[in-house]
Amino acid sequence: PEQIAWTHNGAGNLGVFGTFDRGQLQRGFQVYKEVCSACHSLNRVAFRDLAALGFTGPQIKAIAADYQVPSVDENGEAATRPATAADRLPLVYANETAARAAQNGALPPDLSLITKARPDGTNYLRSLLLGYRDKVPAGLTASPGLHYNPWFHSVFIAMPPPLVADDQVTYADGTKGTKDQYATDVSVFLTWAAEPKLEARKQIGVASILFLLIITGLGYLSYKKVWADIK
Ligand code: HEM
Repeated sequence: PEQIAWTHNGAGNLGVFGTFDRGQLQRGFQVYKEVCSACHSLNRVAFRDLAALGFTGPQIKAIAADYQVPSVDENGEAATRPATAADRLPLVYANETAARAAQNGALPPDLSLITKARPDGTNYLRSLLLGYRDKVPAGLTASPGLHYNPWFHSVFIAMPPPLVADDQVTYADGTKGTKDQYATDVSVFLTWAAEPKLEARKQIGVASILFLLIITGLGYLSYKKVWADIK
């Protein structure tokens, strides 16, 4: 896949200092919500986790209230209720059979861990989303319902091109909407979803290395002192 200089990999910086761009995460969530969530769930993410994207408590409550989650009514019958911040993003389909029935036999995977499940996941995802081609190479024929996308392992994917127009999503922060921007932003958002502790992990890593350097220095000085008399 095309290699992008991602901020979380420390673009323009050392990789260990990489952080997510909060504005980009929020835009990526908007793309997920308005486009991908028609078919893909994100069931390992709870609404309250969205605080890490810079959303405030009331904003998270409002986002959650737009979703319905399974519940039971006062008679013990299955029902739904608006989600709260403590709920996870709901499943799009009740189970695999329902998902395949709705998708011509294909299964749209839950996207919570997708960038970890594929090698070079963030770049792969972006390339996949931008990688649909109308012209199928000679010698290959697309079966009905499949789309040519050279980034997909079998090159024919059941997912129809999800990002089709430059003004498909109107960004809340006024960023100009282009297919490239949508694909880039949603790839970063799903990278965060798969590894929400990435920034903390990097910070702990840096602190640990500093700690070990100091301990090594102290150890060396103690060694010099302890053995000072012995030539
Ligand atoms: C598969 C991402 C929108 C239907 C996938 C895969 C990813 C993905 C990463 C798995 C590719 C792999 O296995 O390597 C996205 C993103 C979307 C989006 C980020 C929004 C921007 C949609 C929409 C639909 C859809 C709107 C339904 C109309 C599917 C299906 C598959 C799939 C059916 C399974 C494909 C197969 O196994 O051939 N998607 N998707 N996706 N997606 Fe999407």
